[in-house]
Amino acid sequence: MALWGGRFSQGPDSAFKQFNDSLPFDYQLAEQDIIGSIAWAKAISSVGVLSQSELAQLTAALLELLKEVKADPESIAHAGDEDIHSYVESKLIEKVGDLGKKLHTGRSRNDQVATDFRLWCRTTATTLLGAIEALQKAFIALAERELGTILPGYTHLQRAQPVLFSHWCLAYVEMLARDHSRLTDAVNRFNECPLGSGALAGTAYGIDREILAKELGFARATRNSLDAVSDRDFVIELLSCASLSMLHLSRLAEDLIFYNSGEAGFIELADTVTSGSSLMPQKKNPDALELIRGKTGRVFGALSAMSMTLKALPLAYNKDMQEDKEGLFDALTTWLACIHMAQSCISGLSVRSARTLAAAKGGHANATELADYLVAKGIPFRQGHHIVGQLVQLAISKGKNLEELPLSEFKAVCDVIDDDVYPVLEIDACIAARKALGGTSLPQVQQAIAAWKLKIQ
Ligand code: ARG
Repeated sequence: MALWGGRFSQGPDSAFKQFNDSLPFDYQLAEQDIIGSIAWAKAISSVGVLSQSELAQLTAALLELLKEVKADPESIAHAGDEDIHSYVESKLIEKVGDLGKKLHTGRSRNDQVATDFRLWCRTTATTLLGAIEALQKAFIALAERELGTILPGYTHLQRAQPVLFSHWCLAYVEMLARDHSRLTDAVNRFNECPLGSGALAGTAYGIDREILAKELGFARATRNSLDAVSDRDFVIELLSCASLSMLHLSRLAEDLIFYNSGEAGFIELADTVTSGSSLMPQKKNPDALELIRGKTGRVFGALSAMSMTLKALPLAYNKDMQEDKEGLFDALTTWLACIHMAQSCISGLSVRSARTLAAAKGGHANATELADYLVAKGIPFRQGHHIVGQLVQLAISKGKNLEELPLSEFKAVCDVIDDDVYPVLEIDACIAARKALGGTSLPQVQQAIAAWKLKIQ
């Protein structure tokens, strides 16, 4: 049943109806629409629009409907109503007759949809925050398990300096903490109740909107009706939180795809998150990670789509805004699935620490140590840098690592180098030297793990 029609002498044609209807996707707001309706019934009864017994009847019917929609939410999608608000109202009228027609007094679908959508976003954000924490925990557990494992650290995808594998794990814990904090901020900003803003000008019924806001668990009521019904900043903020976090997950995916490659062979992914090739029997492909990397594009797509939709949109509500839902539903569902999948990959991977160590030892990753050694011997860093460059060239020409050069060859390039250079060039010394806050030395990493455990576990 349409909520309007009195002014029309013809119904919509079927192509337009299909084009215009949002029920096929906004059915996902069914619970929120019913909960918002119960609160609205209470609000209008407080100003005498409904008697106490009418309120009780409406509430009971709405609660009954809530149970029904929870049991089979997807069946609503094809019920044929224009949108979830029309669906709920028509079901209510089926249950309580004409009394159901009173519920929409003083309310518009414009303030209703803005409220429903924010309620949905709040619940979904809570789930996402929990998932981010779970992924952080998986990283921390891996960091603890692999404490001591040495990994080549890269810049420009060239082996640069060795780091602890756990240090790499904690880098992602940091990124995820920022994702978590951004999402929390977004929730705090949108946690305001638009209900009672009417179509655009405010409601003509003297309800207490602050009480209504509290009733629905919002921190406060919105303060300007024009803004309240037309603001979709929260959608863009959530999409931007999702995009940035997906960007982090895509970097994680890329790191792991590389570590898992035959060429690197640093890790092995669990069978549970990899798949085979239909043609090449030897293959075990990192599909989960490739999909995380790939889906990042789709989430960014939703962000730019919504930004374009809202650009230059005049106040207040316009039907363009109905486009806010599918992109956000899809982006947040995708983000959540990727967080879960990343967690499975992290929890199930095994590290080939002999290979990571061998790779960290190759590539002259201890060259910086040698330059620092020369600085300690009184040579200015820039000059030391040049000397070490020559020594690296020498080592490359002999197919050796720096620590494999005999002292005579060191001395031929720089006389101040002595026997005491060898312990400095050991990989453990390279790691141990990074002992300032935020560095990769074992005590720093242990402290970081302990601090995260306090925060998260
Ligand atoms: N289905 C609409 C949406 O999602 C609900 C609001 C409709 N309001 C209106 N005045 N047509 O945006």
